[in-house]
Amino acid sequence: MHTPDLNLARKRTNNSVETINFCFNSDLRGIAKDKKYCLKTYGCQMNEHDSENIKALLEEMGFKESSTMTGADLIILNTCSIRENAHNKAFGMLGRIKKIKESNKDLIVGIMGCMAQEEVVVNEIMNKYKWVSFVLGTHNINELPNTIFNLLKNNKLTIEVYSKEGEIVEGLPSVRNNKYKAFVNIMYGCDKFCTYCIVPYTRGKQRSRKKEDIINEVIDLKNKGYKEVTLLGQNVNAYGKDLNINYTMSDLLQDVANTGIDRVRFMTSHPWDFTDEMIDVIANNPNVMPHIHLPVQSGSDKVLKMMGRRYTKDEYIALVKKLREKIPNLSLTTDIIVGFPTETLEDFNMTLDLVKEINYDLAYTFIFSKRVGTPAYNMKDETSLEEKNRRLQELNYYINSAANLKNKDYVGKKVKVLIEGFSEKDKSKLMGYTETNKLVNVTGDKDNIGKIVDVKITDYKTWSLDGKIV
Ligand code: 5AD
Ligand code: SF4
Repeated sequence: MHTPDLNLARKRTNNSVETINFCFNSDLRGIAKDKKYCLKTYGCQMNEHDSENIKALLEEMGFKESSTMTGADLIILNTCSIRENAHNKAFGMLGRIKKIKESNKDLIVGIMGCMAQEEVVVNEIMNKYKWVSFVLGTHNINELPNTIFNLLKNNKLTIEVYSKEGEIVEGLPSVRNNKYKAFVNIMYGCDKFCTYCIVPYTRGKQRSRKKEDIINEVIDLKNKGYKEVTLLGQNVNAYGKDLNINYTMSDLLQDVANTGIDRVRFMTSHPWDFTDEMIDVIANNPNVMPHIHLPVQSGSDKVLKMMGRRYTKDEYIALVKKLREKIPNLSLTTDIIVGFPTETLEDFNMTLDLVKEINYDLAYTFIFSKRVGTPAYNMKDETSLEEKNRRLQELNYYINSAANLKNKDYVGKKVKVLIEGFSEKDKSKLMGYTETNKLVNVTGDKDNIGKIVDVKITDYKTWSLDGKIV
C-alpha cells in the first residue's frame, strides 16, 4: 500500500530519470477473457492518451470493452483534478457506481488519473469509499495488470500511488481511439508551478522522453497509415531541458517534421519557453500545422505575477506579433482564468482588452477553482461567485464573437481537411479538421475518410465550418 504524500509531490530533485521497457507479464494474457471493462475518461489529452494505454493493457488481459457500467466486471475512472467540477463529476460517478456494486459484490472499481495522486482524495476514499477496489497513480499505469490480477483473487481496497515520479516507461501497448490521428507523449510532468495549478503535484517533475523513442514512435505511426501526430506535454516548449543535452523542442519538432508524416501538432506551449528557433521550424515546415495553443490566463500583469506565469501582457503580445509575422495563416487559441484571487474589475477589463487586441480563434475560459496544496489555495479571494460568473459570460461574449468572425472569413476559401469519419450530428456528412484546427462538416464521398482533401468552405457557425470536397 502506497498512499500519496503532498510534501513529496512538491519536491524536485536533480536525480536523473531512468527509462525502462514495459514487458507484459505473459502469465496474465487472456486471464479475463470472459470479462468486460468500462473505462470513463475525464480531463485533458494526456488523460485520453493514458486511457489508450489502459485499454490496451486490459484487452491484453482478455477484457472486452462495455459501453455501459452495468454489465461490466471492472469499472475504471481515469480522473482529472484540474478544477473542482472535474473532481465533483468523478465523485458523482462513484455515487452511481456504489449502487451497481451493491448488486454485484465482485465488481472491481478503480480510480486512476490525477485525482488518484491527491492526498485529500485518497484520504476520502479510504474513509468513505472503502468499497472501491483500487487506486493507481499516474506514475505506475504499467502496474495495472498485476493489480487487477490480485483483485480478481481478493477484491480489497489496494492503493498504489507514488508521489515521487519513477521511471519513464517505454513500450506500453496502446489501443488508439483514432485511426488517422495519434497522440505522442514527448514529456511527462511539469516544473512550472503556476500558483493555481495542481498538475506539477499530480504528474510529477518534468521528464522528457528520449528523442529516439519519440521519433521511432512517429515513424511507426506513419508506417501504420497515421496522417497526423500531436506531440503532447504539459509544457512542450521546455522539452529536453531536463535531459542535459543540447537538443531542444525546436530540434525535436524539426526531426519529427523530417519523418515526412503529413501533419504535426503540439500542445501545450507556455509563452515563456517559446523560442525564435521554434517559430522558424513552424514557419519553414509545411507539415508543422499553423495552429498554436498559447494559454495567456490573464491580461493583467499583477494577476500574471500572482499566477507565477513569468511573462507580462506586453511580452505575450510581442510573442504573438512575432508568431503572426512569421506564420501568416496562424490560428491562435488560448486558456483564460477569470476570478483569480484579488482580480479586480480593472484587472478583468485588462483581460478583455487583451482578448480584443489578440483576436483569438478560440479560447477556453474558466472560473478559478481552488486546488488543495497549491499556493493560490490560501490566497485571499473576495470576489463573489456571482461576479465571477458575470465576468466569465462577458469574456465569452467577446471570445465567441471573435471565433464567429474568424470562421466567417473562411467562407469561399479552399482548405485542406483530414477527413476522419462521419459527422456526429449528421451521419450523411463527413467531418475533419483544417490545418488551422477548425472543425469542418463536409459533403463528399466516404472513400475520402483517412485522406487529406481540398474542401471549399460554403458556410460557417461559431464552432464549426461547412464545406464540400472539390
Ligand atoms: N482553476 C481554474 N482553471 C484552471 N486551469 C488550471 N488550473 C486551474 C484552476 N485551479 C486552467 C488553465 C489551464 C487549463 C488547462 O486549465 O487555464 O491552462
Ligand atoms: Fe490533465 Fe491536468 Fe486534468 Fe491531470 S489535472 S487530467 S494533467 S488537465
